[in-house]
Amino acid sequence: MKKVWLPLLMTGILCLIPYIGVQYAGLGYLFAIIIPCASLVILIAGFAIRMVNWLIRPVPFRIPTTCGQEKSLDWIKQDKLESPSHFWEAIARVLGEVLFFRSLFRNTKAELYAGPKLVYGSTKWLWLGGMVFHWSMLIIVLRHSKFFFSTVPPFADFLDNADRFFDILLPAFYMTDALVLAALSFLIVRRLRDLKLRLISLPTDFFPLFLILAIVLAGMSMRYVTKINVLPVHDQILTLMDYSFVLSGEIGVLFYVHLFLVCVLAVYFPFSKLVHAGGIFLSPTRNLCNNSRAKRHVNPWNPDIKFKSYAEYEDTYRDKMKKAGLPVEKE
Ligand code: HEM
Repeated sequence: MKKVWLPLLMTGILCLIPYIGVQYAGLGYLFAIIIPCASLVILIAGFAIRMVNWLIRPVPFRIPTTCGQEKSLDWIKQDKLESPSHFWEAIARVLGEVLFFRSLFRNTKAELYAGPKLVYGSTKWLWLGGMVFHWSMLIIVLRHSKFFFSTVPPFADFLDNADRFFDILLPAFYMTDALVLAALSFLIVRRLRDLKLRLISLPTDFFPLFLILAIVLAGMSMRYVTKINVLPVHDQILTLMDYSFVLSGEIGVLFYVHLFLVCVLAVYFPFSKLVHAGGIFLSPTRNLCNNSRAKRHVNPWNPDIKFKSYAEYEDTYRDKMKKAGLPVEKE
């Protein structure tokens, strides 16, 4: 199965690059400063280019989805969330998608059994796995914001305390670490176990999963196994944010592996399927209100045709019409 081994091998090689580079070649500066700064620039520029590219595409017509009653006569009840007719209703539909994956919740799978019998089943596990994965990632990334401020921001402090609910280990174990690991394992196993899914999966479906898994495992090893001192990391980030590009102190090599993988993810993000994180906001079936009955939408690339009224037509051809014996309205 080349499409599984190849991305796995690539992830392994990506882990080795900073390990060898920092441990044996003394390239700490490259991995702590140059690569993170370059990848941040690529992430921001790449993401902006992708978004602008989508934003400038004209979307002249509304695309009503069929799962909700469009606004019509007063006595017909409109489904405001499924078929919004105003801006804020459409925003609520987008947020429902972004925060709760509503479409995925309603997704079904079709399977052919002996008979032949076509059976539609639920895919709530995929929805749950997706939700747990994305929410855990978000909380982990937000928790990381403590490294980017000189004093821990209140929201990061709150998340930190809420997440260390099972405060029985030293350092405290974060619930999201266990959840993100479980969700990632589920998402990988799901692609491998189901024959149909394995057939349509590409290396680019496995690579981001392996890469994120490696980032999480490196992060967890730092925290729970090697118990990294986070003060030099904090120092290094604050120094960089002060536009001072100097190495501030000794940091364990595992941190460089963690950071390098994050940089790879940052560079990969705008040019891969991961950019759906931004694209979902621009999805026309989600963000356009269905007001085709109330408002006329004109295609902007229609040719600019000059129409003539009958009065103008008659003004132009009146003499010819009279000569031909045709009736005219004005003499
Ligand atoms: C996609 C981005 C990232 C993900 C998914 C991620 C994930 C993780 C995870 C799962 C852990 C284990 C402990 C925890 O949950 O806090 C961790 C720890 C850590 N990460 Fe990240 N990380 C990311 C980006 C970064 C960045 C950009 C830095 C620094 C520049 C960083 C520095 C660290 C450090 C220092 C630890 C150890 C924390 C501790 O001991 O409490 N991470 N990371």
